[in-house]
Amino acid sequence: MKFYSDKALVTQNQLTVLLDKLEPYREELALIAKRTDYLASESSIQLTGDVELLKTIQETAKRLHAPTLQYVIVVGIGGSNLGTQAVYEAIAGSMNLLVDRLPKLLFLDTVTDEKMTAVTRVLEHLTSKDDFLAIVISKSGSTTETIANMEVLWTCATKQLGDVRERFVFITDEGSKLWNTAKENKMEVFSVPAQAGGRFSVFSAVGLLPLALAGIDIGELVAGARRAVTDGTSSNPTKNHSLISACLTYLQLQAGRSIHNTFLFSPKLEALGKWERQLIAESLGKDGKGIMPIVSIGSTDLHSMAQLYWGGPDTTFTNLVFSFTGAVHTVSQRLALPGLVQHISGTSLEGIMQAIYGGVKAAYEKTARPYVEIDLEQADARELGYYLQFRMLEIIYLGRLLDVNAFDQPAVEMYKEVTRNLLQSMR
Ligand code: PA5
Repeated sequence: MKFYSDKALVTQNQLTVLLDKLEPYREELALIAKRTDYLASESSIQLTGDVELLKTIQETAKRLHAPTLQYVIVVGIGGSNLGTQAVYEAIAGSMNLLVDRLPKLLFLDTVTDEKMTAVTRVLEHLTSKDDFLAIVISKSGSTTETIANMEVLWTCATKQLGDVRERFVFITDEGSKLWNTAKENKMEVFSVPAQAGGRFSVFSAVGLLPLALAGIDIGELVAGARRAVTDGTSSNPTKNHSLISACLTYLQLQAGRSIHNTFLFSPKLEALGKWERQLIAESLGKDGKGIMPIVSIGSTDLHSMAQLYWGGPDTTFTNLVFSFTGAVHTVSQRLALPGLVQHISGTSLEGIMQAIYGGVKAAYEKTARPYVEIDLEQADARELGYYLQFRMLEIIYLGRLLDVNAFDQPAVEMYKEVTRNLLQSMR
């Protein structure tokens, strides 16, 4: 991953003040990263050094991967599925329709008949229970949507395929109600370190197990992330992109730019943007403070949002993320309908996208709107692991700069409690 920050419109002096302020915390994080005791709030950074965990997940995935496995259904919401979906879609693509890539991951997050019907229709085509696996993920073990989806799926799968007990595995906090119930029923259950909160848990069993089952090299993913921990706790600011990015975002906020636009120039990275949106929003939006994260997809959203970005108020800090991996399709030299758009014959679709990307940067510069650039290069498992961990560390630093607890989400509990009460009154 390459990080370019020369168009962020901040001075070296402004940066130095913040780097000095964060130095003791950086040192503390560097020490935490060397342990695997999972005691500190920042313990999620220890996941990438947990060799035992990686080995266990790789062996488990091998064991659960029956030869005919076609679908892995991930039941979970928020931090329990967004990281997995981000990596999966970035690698398998946003239109992963053909059967040549099996097993496929299917995601059940919110409660909707439409998604559940799609999944149960898939089950109807299966002949053996070994053709599917459900991974139910809830750190708390008590999220209404996840437990309701698990129940509906269980009933459908049982009707269709008989006793599916061994095809449901659970990931939750040790000692949660879900943990205890799964254990009592002799079902397979994996734990998440207590201090690794949902949106910081992608390198625990939460993300690693489904991704390994989908054939993604989790060794590479974790190796990339481990590198990002080394870099993100380094005292060398040219390596420590997490620290620099946190400082830049904080300086923009101080300058009145409270909107953070992750502008991804590839539709397959949209889920990655949504993962990041949650990370920023839930970690930093508290005590009346926060940053409004938005996600844009290039070039699609140039045709819906660009006017606002360059003509509207100067309240946004943009992170351009791209991954140009090599041309596949090219516009023919012999155009079917010549004369409509100049200079596209013989140009690859990626080449056209690169020209658009150049135009976007020029527009930001012309309107003096700040931006940074992130090159995800091949956007493979190693690079994605690096990016996810780079962002998580950035948010940890930002939490410190904003003086908020980046690891809790007390406001989310408000709706959860009322929902439970309403469900009771509906009986
Ligand atoms: O990041 C978080 O902590 C949240 O987004 C949770 O992941 C989300 O609310 C789901 O919670 P749980 O995993 O307990 O079902």
